[in-house]
Amino acid sequence: SENNVSVLRYFDNRGFSMKGIIMAGGKGSRLSPVTSVISKQLLPVYDKPMIYYPLSTLMLANIRDIFIISDPLNVVHYQNLLGDGSTWGINIKYVVQNKPNGLAEGLILCKKFLNEDDNIVLICGDNIFYGHNLAKLLIESIKNNNGASVFACRVNNPKDFGIVNFKGNIPISIEEKPKNPKSNLAITGLYIYDNSALKKVFKIEPSKRGELEISSLNQLYLEENKLTVVELGRGYTWLDTGNPDALLTASQFIQTIEKRQGLKICCPEEIAFNNKWINKDKISKLIYNNQGNDYSKYLKKLIGLNS
Ligand code: DAU
Repeated sequence: SENNVSVLRYFDNRGFSMKGIIMAGGKGSRLSPVTSVISKQLLPVYDKPMIYYPLSTLMLANIRDIFIISDPLNVVHYQNLLGDGSTWGINIKYVVQNKPNGLAEGLILCKKFLNEDDNIVLICGDNIFYGHNLAKLLIESIKNNNGASVFACRVNNPKDFGIVNFKGNIPISIEEKPKNPKSNLAITGLYIYDNSALKKVFKIEPSKRGELEISSLNQLYLEENKLTVVELGRGYTWLDTGNPDALLTASQFIQTIEKRQGLKICCPEEIAFNNKWINKDKISKLIYNNQGNDYSKYLKKLIGLNS
């Protein structure tokens, strides 16, 4: 039941347990001075904190056991914002990353909280995904995952991302922020791993920029022919929000779609309600705590109350 989330483990339909990790640490230096006293992933993207978006993506993928990685100063803010997750029928635990040593370190930091048979979906705290049937795509990718599965998207600025290169249909290389990109297919910040990731991650050496790169972990899967790259075509939008322009663009994108449709993008309450993880009563309590604003009006509509 929704009251017992902290003691439950959730299993996918093969009987595997999937855990989610949101990387919400980092210095946010490209957004400085905005991020000088507040973590990037707490900043607003239009009408909600940035972290709602990756959190919603995991919830859409049916993941209910979630670790949030934060720096030591900001972890308290994430705890205040999201609590233990029970409000939304999920189970959130917080893990401190003392220094931004790289995305792959997230797996190392969570290892002691994970079971050996846990599969993992890791997502960057500043990544936004939007598109028709995204939930279905994610759930199927998790179900069919054999090794690691990543999602690739075409970009204009391939030098800023992890870039995958194909020979025919086979991925043959992954390069982190290449000076001379071999393609413009960027690997997005959403990664599905089988339980071997927890061993593989200890084989990785820090890169030139001193980070345990997620691209290095993906490269290990590629070398074993166990990396699936799913291309997100034109019907999907993938945004990251790491610099002032990208943050503004993301806010404007969300505003445009939400105003046009009257539907919110990445509203965790709505996803939890649609997944039947929380009921109307629970949502009405949230509204009671937060009356009158647009977000509450949306929740009222969701459960059939007049605003
Ligand atoms: O956005 C997708 C890209 O994310 C991939 O294409 C790259 O392969 C991958 O390395 C990563 O690149 P970035 O350099 O853009 O990642 P960034 O340092 O911005 O970190 C991504 C998120 O993870 C951000 O919300 C901060 C958080 N983070 C980052 C590091 C390095 C942590 O929580 N801890 C960390 O140690």
